[in-house]
Amino acid sequence: MSNWPSWLPLREELQSLTPYGAPQIGDVTQLNTNENPFSLPKEVQEKILAQIKNVVAGLNRYPDRDAVRLRSKLAGYISAQSGLNFSVENIWAANGSNEILQTIFLACGGTGRTALGFTPSYSVHPLIARTTGTRWVEGSRKKDFSINAVEAIKEIQREKPSLVFLTTPNNPSGTSTPISIITQIAQAAGEVGALLVVDEAYAEFSLEKSAVTLIGSMPHVLSSRTMSKAFAFAGVRVGYLVADPRVIDAALVTRLPYHLSALTQAAAEVAIDNSTLMQSGIDDLVSGRDLLVRGIEDAGWKALDSSANFILFSGFSKSSAEIWNEFLKRGILIRDVGLEGYLRVTVGTVAENQQFLAALQEIAQ
Ligand SMILES: Cc1ncc(COP(=O)(O)O)c(C=O)c1O
Repeated sequence: MSNWPSWLPLREELQSLTPYGAPQIGDVTQLNTNENPFSLPKEVQEKILAQIKNVVAGLNRYPDRDAVRLRSKLAGYISAQSGLNFSVENIWAANGSNEILQTIFLACGGTGRTALGFTPSYSVHPLIARTTGTRWVEGSRKKDFSINAVEAIKEIQREKPSLVFLTTPNNPSGTSTPISIITQIAQAAGEVGALLVVDEAYAEFSLEKSAVTLIGSMPHVLSSRTMSKAFAFAGVRVGYLVADPRVIDAALVTRLPYHLSALTQAAAEVAIDNSTLMQSGIDDLVSGRDLLVRGIEDAGWKALDSSANFILFSGFSKSSAEIWNEFLKRGILIRDVGLEGYLRVTVGTVAENQQFLAALQEIAQ
């Protein structure tokens, strides 16, 4: 039943929806949206301010519509990370990887088209499917949230989607998919004429080989990336697509002109030039993750094996909502991801992790 006024011609299939978003609660320790808890290194803050000063007088003009300098820098970053040779034609940049995902849906989804994703996974994939009129099909994961390649291939062959989504490391489980399985799924996707979109928002926290290594031999494989997590740059909103140049051209067909502001481009260019400094928190986050996993297990609960900056845990005797509330009462906001019996916590600073562990010890008693 909808509460929309009768004069508002909202599309019928959207009328049951409410705006997406995790609860925003002030004055609590925020361990709920998989952000990087470390603020930008002072040195980079200063360089960004100086760069913004350089562009501010020119803000009367539209920004570079194709963000060529930023994309070239991103290509350099991904080339260095992968040991391969990507250029500006292999990269598209947007306001967060959510916009990248929406751009792909706009280009290759829509009415009469199907998108398939292996769930539970990032809940924004089905949401964008819905808002773009794309039929969404839930593919399966095993009980431990890994992917059964045989099942996945059967699902692709049965549904014949135009888009297949695979998130690795996966959100909310934190588990990653080995490149051998991604390759098998990519082959099956190619055979039915689908693009395989590998959502690699958390790639820098993982030791698995990235799907960008497949693009050269499989042009229908796409990697969706973000600066929101390992780069600690969520507030700026920069995501990017790594893909075959023809896929990038397709994304360009549906992008809005001048979508990426001059301020965003300027700040992101500096961040990429300083990527080592920007990512200096990764090691601490990985040790923080290990500490939290041990703490959760020591308390008698179960933590999934995570390759990201968050952990999905289970094994508590009350409901997820009750345990979520117990943490909130102690000033800690974690995420109820809608999977009964599970909750997700983002790795924080040393102090935040200690606060979480202290609360956990009380709650798990
Ligand atoms: C798997 C996954 N993909 C994409 C995103 C979107 O990130 P952003 O739009 O900040 O780049 C997130 C954010 O949490 C995510 O978990």
